[in-house]
Amino acid sequence: MSRGGHFHVAGLRKRFGRRLLLDDVELHLHETSCTLLTGENGAGKSTLLRILAGLEKPDGGSFRLGRRLYPSWRKARRSLQKAVMYLHQQPYLFDGSVEYNLRLALGGQREGQEALIRTALQWIDMESFRETPARTLSGGERQRLALARAWLASPEIMLLDEPTANLDTESRGRTLELLRGLRNQGIVLVIASHDPHHFEELAECRIDLHNGRLTHLAPRGAGTVQSAKVIPIRQGYA
Ligand SMILES: Nc1ncnc2c1ncn2[C@@H]1O[C@H](COP(=O)(O)OP(=O)(O)O)[C@@H](O)[C@H]1O
Ligand SMILES: [Mg+2]
Repeated sequence: MSRGGHFHVAGLRKRFGRRLLLDDVELHLHETSCTLLTGENGAGKSTLLRILAGLEKPDGGSFRLGRRLYPSWRKARRSLQKAVMYLHQQPYLFDGSVEYNLRLALGGQREGQEALIRTALQWIDMESFRETPARTLSGGERQRLALARAWLASPEIMLLDEPTANLDTESRGRTLELLRGLRNQGIVLVIASHDPHHFEELAECRIDLHNGRLTHLAPRGAGTVQSAKVIPIRQGYA
């Protein structure tokens, strides 16, 4: 997807054994949008996100990334893996320091690397953790480091799988603040959660996965809360 484009998926199907997990699912992500994906445990949220990130093969579906149309997941896969990043609920960190984990996210990029790492550490408020072994970090710190790594990789779309599950109130608040920053930078966000009320202020639309079907809903409470931070529901999603 070229920046400023749209991401559209149609006819998405996925079956595990006899269970139809995704039944002709259609999804449209607008530029600079933040979408909340809700659904009970086992509804298929993680599976859907992993398919969208090019990590898991569906049984059918077509994809549009910006102007490019792909008739199958197999043809879309490489473009999906480039443009879309999936963040696991329990972020996988490499053995090594916080800085090492950030450097890996930059890959071969050399120029300006130090400045980018410094900015990333400042952004997550973990400058003093630069040399800390990543495996000794708390859950909240791991999540922030994972977000900084994702930011350095600069995907167009980030899919966050239960990003605040198992976090205490303070860590959750920090994570939400970072997600708001990513959204304000123009990264398209999809946040999967079975605990949607934490994200009401962040997400301008909500989709719900139930019995293999995706329904577009307004976020609970949106439109009734009078706050400068509440983003109006986009046309077509209300
Ligand atoms: N690789 C797999 N093989 C068989 N069943 C799977 C596989 N991955 C997930 N499932 C099943 O699909 C259902 C949806 O899982 P998941 O996408 O993780 O749901 P959610 O993220 O909404 O909790 C679950 O019942 C799970 O057991
Ligand atoms: Mg899940």
